[in-house]
Order: sequence, then structure tokens, then C-alpha cells
Amino acid sequence: MNRFPVRKVAVLGAGVMGAQIAAHLVNVKVPVVLFDLPAREGPKNGIVTKAVEGLKKLKPSPLGVPEDAALIEQANYEEHLDKLKGCDLIIEAIAERMDWKLDLYKRIAPAIAPHAIVASNTSGLSITKLSEVLPEEIKPRFCGIHFFNPPRYMRPRYMHLVELIPTVATAADVVDQLETFLTSTLGKGVVRAKDTPNFVANRVGIAGMLATMKEAETFGLGYDVVDDLTGKKLGRASSGTFRTADVVGLDTLAHVIKTLQDNLGNDPFFASYATPPVLEQLIDKGALGQKSGAGFFKKVGKDILRLDPATGDYVPAAGKAEEIVARILKKPAPERLKLLRESSNPQAQFLWAILRDSFHYVAVHLASAPARGRSSCGRKPAGSRSPNGSRPTSRPARRCRMRRCRRGCSTDATAFTRRKARGAPRRSATSRAATCRCTSGSSSARAWPATARCRRSRPAPSSSGTTRCGSGRSTTRS
Ligand SMILES: NC(=O)c1ccc[n+]([C@@H]2O[C@H](COP(=O)([O-])OP(=O)(O)OC[C@H]3O[C@@H](n4cnc5c(N)ncnc54)[C@H](O)[C@@H]3O)[C@@H](O)[C@H]2O)c1
Repeated sequence: MNRFPVRKVAVLGAGVMGAQIAAHLVNVKVPVVLFDLPAREGPKNGIVTKAVEGLKKLKPSPLGVPEDAALIEQANYEEHLDKLKGCDLIIEAIAERMDWKLDLYKRIAPAIAPHAIVASNTSGLSITKLSEVLPEEIKPRFCGIHFFNPPRYMRPRYMHLVELIPTVATAADVVDQLETFLTSTLGKGVVRAKDTPNFVANRVGIAGMLATMKEAETFGLGYDVVDDLTGKKLGRASSGTFRTADVVGLDTLAHVIKTLQDNLGNDPFFASYATPPVLEQLIDKGALGQKSGAGFFKKVGKDILRLDPATGDYVPAAGKAEEIVARILKKPAPERLKLLRESSNPQAQFLWAILRDSFHYVAVHLASAPARGRSSCGRKPAGSRSPNGSRPTSRPARRCRMRRCRRGCSTDATAFTRRKARGAPRRSATSRAATCRCTSGSSSARAWPATARCRRSRPAPSSSGTTRCGSGRSTTRS
């Protein structure tokens, strides 16, 4: 296999995503240099320094070990462009504006190493258009690499998914190599997407979010109630809809909605892509969500307040789903949908409306989805070709045969299977633990089975018996 060694990564943009992607790279011991614009006042690395400090306060924590924030090398485009030459992978994660991204690409192009892969974390801008300003020799090494927020977490928690979006010019082995890095080193699950507006997840997800915002207004539901209804109770992230918008950043959300408006004039759902007025009002006020301290919600001391759209004030956020609706949501899926549809309860009717609209949206657009997809298990249908038509030159990481630790992280079962085939004796429990790649970072006093332990750079145990491995995962000595 044509291995692509990622010895160092540059992340461009120290915002919500860039800083957290850098943190995840540090978690898995990949050296990273984080760039942003030079600060107008004070030290030139001021924007990056603030972002790195902010990582220590974020919840859920993007860092396994908060002190590892110091391992992120800080840089700015004015003084440190030459640092790019030492990077094998460059991930651009600056604000979701095509013009700003293109300007940056023109600026960095001369400093990119001849072998480096360059990728954009755009939420849905055209990767082909982004590539147009790059020199011809970089185009085969350029593609989209769409991490989701928060980018640290792996299955089963939070956003396991990364979308890889090649252009027609992207070399097949570049996509394979990136997929291998994302799955094997970063513990992600990869879906290859077409270069269509907002790709797969944001195309469906943003349409669903807009439908939820519209129906919330129709049914007069508070943002706290909507989040309770559309969070864990629906099997989704506990941040539901409006808190998720705050976490993403309302300006970024508006840009991603605009991508739909700018590119999907012929879409039968075009009318539903209108920007909700409340979102525009919040952005005008500078309330951009979590990154600016206020959005649909605002934290004051320990209290969470929600926006009251009628008055524009923030009021206590304590609204929950009604008991009857919560009970319906515990039923098996077919019964749940039937009960929601038949109920006259406004919360049930709201849920039925948003689910119905999402199913309708997906059903209509399925016709244009790729006939042969591929997920991170790496098993392509027999005879399938790479997205740009050529046969892949290297095999992607194999995930199907991964054994999983109790927390869902993967252990490489291939080595285990080879040993078994050779008739080699079973390795000791400690030895078997060697391949755990978990970076969940949570500590637990529970004794984990041997396969769940991580023994990377294990330091001496603390008095509590809990050890913290280099990846930030705490394990308990049984
Ligand atoms: N926020 C999310 O949840 C999320 C999720 C997935 C992907 N993305 C994508 O990641 C990218 C970054 O999003 P974000 O939420 O981190 O944005 P952000 O607004 O938090 O940060 C943007 C960063 O870009 C920098 N920047 C602004 N203008 C610039 C310019 N002209 N040149 C260079 N740098 C500039 C800013 O200093 C800032 O650090 C976007 O493409 C976005 O669509 C965001």
C-alpha cells in the first residue's frame, strides 16, 4: 500500500472548528501548527493564542488532557507561512466565505510542500470552485474534508462522521490516503460525497433545521422545548436544534443556508431555504451563538436563558417536552410515528410535521444520490471505481473487522486475525490492549476489560489507581 505519512498537519483558521481539529490532532499525537490572521493589536499570534486558551474551557472538552493545548504550535500568515513547507497535510478551516478562502489559497500556494495534501473543511461550498485558484500541480492533491462539530469525538459519541469530497481532478490515491488517515489515526468514519451544495449531511441537516425552526414558530414552541423534543428523545445530539445552531455559530449557519439559496434555484424545496428572520436579527445584533456568548440561548452565571422572540429579551429556559409526548417517543419507531401523526397534542403535531418534511425531502432527493455509496468500512461494491473514475491505487483502511472496546473505539483486529492464522499463541491481556485508539478522554473508576485499556505512553498510576494515557483516555487498573 502506498502509505502517506502524516508527520505534521497545518490547520488554517483558529475558529470554532480549526481550533478543535487541531486539538483532536494533538489528542492522537500528530504534531500540528494552527494558523490564523495576525492580530491587529498585541502579539501577532493573539487570535490563535486566544483560541487555544478557549479550548481548555469548552464542553465537551476537545482535548483529552487540557494541558496538551500547549502542544499546538501557534502561527500567523504574516510571519510564519514558511512553516507550511514542513506540513504533509493542510486543513483549511476559515470562515465559510468563498472569496476569503480563495484569497487565502492564492497566498499560501507558494509555501505548500510539493507532496502535501490540501483540504478544505468547508460545510458545503463547491470544492471544484475552491480548487480553481490553485496551481495545476496542487489540484490533484486537493479535496474537501468536512469534519463535524465537535470534531474530537468518535463513535458512539458525537460526530463520528467526516465527509470526503473529491473533485474530478483529485487523484484517487489522495482520497484513499486521507481516508486511511481519518479512520486509522483520527478514529473517524468516512463517507465520500459528491461535490454538490452542502454535500450530504448538511444538505439534509440544514433542510431539517430550517423546517424545525419554521414549525417551532407555527406551533408557538419555545427554543428550550424544541431542543428537548428534538434532542436525545429523537435519538439525536442532546443539544437539539437551537442549541446546536448556537454551537455551530449563527453566522456560519447563515452562510451554509446561503449556499443552498445561491445554488439550488431549481430545487422543488427552494422556498424552504429562506433564512429565518430571527436568525438574521440575532446576527445583526452580533449574537452569534456560543462563540459570542449569546444566540438563541445565553448563559448568565449558572443559569441558562432563552431568547423570547416576541420581546427580544432572554428569559429562563426551563421548558420541557410534555409527559405524554415523551412517552410516545419511547415507543418503537412505527408505533411512535403513528401516535405522533394521530395525536392532537401540539408538540406531537410539531414532531410529526418536521419528521414528515424531512422524510419527504430525502425521498425526493434520493433520485440524485449516488447509486453506489461507500462508508468507512472501506468495502466498496465489487468493481466500483474511485469518484474520479480511476481505480484506487491504495486500499482504504478496513473497518469492518475492527473489534471495539467497551466505549466504541476500534482495535485493529487484522493483526489479531493474522496471528490466529499463523497459530501464534494468544497474547497477554496487556499486550492485546496495545491497539486501543480511544480518545474519549473521560476518566472512570470502572475496571475495563483488557481490550478497552489504552497503553500508549502510560505514566505511573496516580494514587486513585487511574492512569491517563497519551491519547487522553483514562483507564483504571483492575
Ligand atoms: N462551526 C461549525 O460547527 C462547523 C462545522 C463543520 C464545518 N465548518 C466549517 O469550518 C470552517 C470554519 O468555520 P468556523 O465555525 O470554525 O468559523 P469561525 O467563524 O469560528 O472561525 C473562522 C476563522 O477564520 C478566520 N478568518 C476570517 N476571515 C478570514 C480571512 N479572510 N482569511 C483568513 N482567515 C480568516 C477568523 O479569524 C476565524 O478564526 C467553515 O468553512 C465552516 O463552514 C464549521
